[in-house]
Amino acid sequence: MSGIRPTGFLHLGNYFGALRNWARMQHEYECFFCVVDWHSLTTHPDTAELKNSVYRVLAENIACGLDPEKATLYVQSDVPQDAELYLYLNMLAYKGELEKTVTFKDKARQHPDNVNAGLLTYPVLQTSDIVIHRAELVPVGKDQEQHLEMARNFVQRFNHRYGHGQTILPEPHAFSYDAGGLVKILSLDGNGKMSKSENQMNTLYLADEDDAIRKKLMKAKTDQGPEAPNSTPPDYIENLFGMMDIVSAPDVAAKFRADYAQSSSGNTVIRYGDLKKQLAEDMVRFIAPIRETANGLLANKDELKRIMKMGGEKARASGQDTIERVRKAVGVNYY
Ligand code: TRP
Repeated sequence: MSGIRPTGFLHLGNYFGALRNWARMQHEYECFFCVVDWHSLTTHPDTAELKNSVYRVLAENIACGLDPEKATLYVQSDVPQDAELYLYLNMLAYKGELEKTVTFKDKARQHPDNVNAGLLTYPVLQTSDIVIHRAELVPVGKDQEQHLEMARNFVQRFNHRYGHGQTILPEPHAFSYDAGGLVKILSLDGNGKMSKSENQMNTLYLADEDDAIRKKLMKAKTDQGPEAPNSTPPDYIENLFGMMDIVSAPDVAAKFRADYAQSSSGNTVIRYGDLKKQLAEDMVRFIAPIRETANGLLANKDELKRIMKMGGEKARASGQDTIERVRKAVGVNYY
């Protein structure tokens, strides 16, 4: 199970850091992927914008290979059982530990005028999202490790208090195919990870038109070339090679790496202009079909709604099964 925040446009980093792995997981496990619209209410988004973001993120996830017939792809607010479980878990989550959460402290610092209870209990709702399906594997990045550790604590307390020696809810763990080595895509100016919020010129979005992709890549940061043969490229150059490894033909990527290795000051064999041109064309070929599929779905809301509805039904059935066990354990089953 994993959750996707509906913050609009996905970028290349999202694809290689998460989506690609999810698409692989759906063939090997029973998977739930949830667009967490309730979670985004913690920061008071504009309601019309939120709705569009939910549609877009769903369409882009499907365009990236999530198959709604295979995995359960749904929206959080379609599963009221999630909110009910959140209520029970809230009784087992303590103010002190919630206040110490890194993501809470960050958000509280960024928005001192909106430190609401939903923000404080964000990790509790995230726990519910996962255990409402009794999911054990959670494909997320490093930034979510603290939330998962908290989830295990809440679950342990629940089982201890209500389980009478039995495991009602299993403990969730972070999951990744590439142990520790998730592909990281850097911002095109070389400053940190590719991200949604920073300068749009430095981020390749899955919705970018061909010309925008070309323009951004041609402006990507390079330098004068290496000073000595077999130099280790700086991270912004390695980033271009890394993208090539992913979207270009293997021999093409190998050629540019070899040119780099042979270059030195006064003998610059590698031509960054050519590299970027090649990369841009290969990137266009990679992104265009994703963009077109997503746009097709967004232009056909009926199909998107059918998919959402189908996912919601499957997720509710799974949630109902868990909530009945939970109610019984807690003792709020009277009939
Ligand atoms: N907190 C996650 C993020 O910021 C999103 C999320 C919400 C999530 N619920 C989840 C992730 C459940 C995994 C499982 O990206």
